[in-house]
Amino acid sequence: MRITYLGHASFYVEGGGVRVAVDPWLTGNPRAAVKAEDLKVDYIVLTHAHDDHKGDVIPIARANDATVITTNEIAVWLQEQGVKAHGMHLGGKTPLGDGYARCFPAFHGSGIAGGHAAGYVLRLGGKTFYHAGDTCLFSDMKLLNGIVDTVDVAALPIGDNYTMGPEDAAVAAQWINPRIVIPMHYNTFPLIEVDAGAFKRRVESESGIRVEILEPGQSLHV
Ligand code: NI
Ligand code: MN
Repeated sequence: MRITYLGHASFYVEGGGVRVAVDPWLTGNPRAAVKAEDLKVDYIVLTHAHDDHKGDVIPIARANDATVITTNEIAVWLQEQGVKAHGMHLGGKTPLGDGYARCFPAFHGSGIAGGHAAGYVLRLGGKTFYHAGDTCLFSDMKLLNGIVDTVDVAALPIGDNYTMGPEDAAVAAQWINPRIVIPMHYNTFPLIEVDAGAFKRRVESESGIRVEILEPGQSLHV
C-alpha cells in the first residue's frame, strides 16, 4: 500500500489493484499537492459532505468514471447529480480491490440533512489505512485495536476547533494502536494551526507509535 498526503484531509491510496482518493479537496485548498484534473482514481471515499472534504469529488468522479463510496444520504445526493455512488453506513463493509472499505463512526456533522459523518478503514494489499474523517475523540476507537479491525496506518485530525486537537488525538493513537499515525486537518488556515512536531514527540514518547508528518505530496509505503 502506498499512501500519499494531498493536504488537509485529502489522501491518495494505491494498493490491492485500485487507486482511491479520500476526501479530495484540492481546488481552493491552500496546501493542495496536486490539481484535481491530474488525479487518476478508480474510487473516491467521502467521509462527509463539508466543503473541505467533498471539494472536488464530483468533477473527479465524472472525469474518471469513478464510484464514490460514502454514507447513503450523500450517495443518493450524488446519484441525483448523475455521479456513480455506492451508499453504505456505519458498521458496514463493502468489497474494494482485494480487500474492503469499512464504514466506521465519526462524531461530527454529515454536511447533509439526515446523514452521519463517518471514518473509513481501507484494507488493500493486506494493509489497513484508517482515515478518521472529522471527529472528536470517542472511546469506540478502541474497537479498531483488534476487536473489529486492526490498523497499520491511521490518519487522525489534530487541528482542534472542528475536530479533536493534538492532546485528544494522542489518546486516540494509543486506543487505536496503529503502527504509524499521520496527522491531518491542521495548518490549512489559521483557525486550525497546531504544532505537529509537539504532537509527534508526545505520541512517540508516550506510546512508541511512529508519527509521520507528511508534507502535501509526500508518500508512505507500508
Ligand atoms: Ni467537517
Ligand atoms: Mn473538515
